[in-house]
Amino acid sequence: MSGNTDWRARYEADLMGTFATPPLLLDHGQGAWVWDADGNKYLDFLGGIAVNSLGHAHPVLIEAVTRQVSLAAHVSNLFASEPQLALAERLKRITGAGDEGKVFFSNSGTEANEAAFKLARLNRGEGGKTRIIALKNAFHGRTMGALALTGKSYMQDPFAPMTPGVEHIDATFEALEAAVDGTVAAVFLEPLQGEAGVIELPEGFLAKARELTEQHGALLIIDEVQTGIGRTGQWFGFEHEGIVPDAITLAKGLAGGVPIGALVTFGRASQLFGRGHHGSTFGGNPLATAAGDAVLAEIEASGLIENARVRGEQLRAAIAALESPLIAGTRGRGLLIGIAFAEPVAEQVVAAARAHGLIVNATGPDSIRLAPPLVIGDIELDEFAARFGAALADISATPIEKVTA
Ligand SMILES: Cc1ncc(COP(=O)(O)O)c(C=O)c1O
Repeated sequence: MSGNTDWRARYEADLMGTFATPPLLLDHGQGAWVWDADGNKYLDFLGGIAVNSLGHAHPVLIEAVTRQVSLAAHVSNLFASEPQLALAERLKRITGAGDEGKVFFSNSGTEANEAAFKLARLNRGEGGKTRIIALKNAFHGRTMGALALTGKSYMQDPFAPMTPGVEHIDATFEALEAAVDGTVAAVFLEPLQGEAGVIELPEGFLAKARELTEQHGALLIIDEVQTGIGRTGQWFGFEHEGIVPDAITLAKGLAGGVPIGALVTFGRASQLFGRGHHGSTFGGNPLATAAGDAVLAEIEASGLIENARVRGEQLRAAIAALESPLIAGTRGRGLLIGIAFAEPVAEQVVAAARAHGLIVNATGPDSIRLAPPLVIGDIELDEFAARFGAALADISATPIEKVTA
């Protein structure tokens, strides 16, 4: 249906009110571009929130999904399939989990973290470890286990009581040292807090967490749902600190838009789950795993991790070159970038950018996030700078709406 005027009414009538009514009805995409139902074209610098790693309608993904759906989309976990085996093998290789590694497939990042939560529960040790440490402002998902890990009281409070055992600490070395002892089953960390506004951890934090968890027999579980799959200029965010975790969780960019999640375990953590401990009907089905394997192969073949690193640096330089007084700075790594504003203008910037044909999203009143497809090149960078610069100029020309608490 094109030329839509009534889609918003239909959305509000029929979709559960958990999301704000969207500003656009998107129809199709190509690379880093999307078109709405009225034919307007947008540069997509959000990529479905770090999901469309190859961009829209990439021929490799089309071929993999089309081929697999014509063979078998689903067989259940009562049976194995070749794409599932191939993706598990590839994940063990690229994560460095190697021969000792194991993979559990889910359908989302939240579900991957649910599996990781259960892994932590199994790491009781002899003394019955039950404490789990996560960070304030962390985001790990919205189901009851993942929500307990998510360090945001406004998300948790309506659904109290939470699954017990999780404590949220500040991202400081002192808090980490005080929290981790022999009663801790696991520490959950995002290498960059994406949903919190692409917030960086203090340098050396992952390494310290590794040291302490190793010392006390706790698992170090890294949530790579947003930072993984090349986004930060390495396959995984943990690699920037040269550590080896006990487990990582993946989703988002893994299958380029086809729903999938994964828990990958390393070393002795691979022995914790046994038969009957966990399951999923859809998890690891041939369609999603064929998509995932094709996406990872294409990222490797086309050097997209290096592209993420180089384009990320160019993007941050282009943002700095705009010399906008509204911009306080940039954060992040590779193609996961947070832009901090000096004023609470994020929502206005998002709307102004959209008016100039650019999609970005607000992660708070004074920050926005960029997570474009890993395939962007010179044209997209130039278009971004022109459109974003025009949006900022519009805002500078109009009075800023002060947000009152
Ligand atoms: C770090 C992190 N963990 C978990 C999730 C939840 O993933 P999903 O929305 O696929 O369930 C997200 C989603 O934004 C995330 O950024």
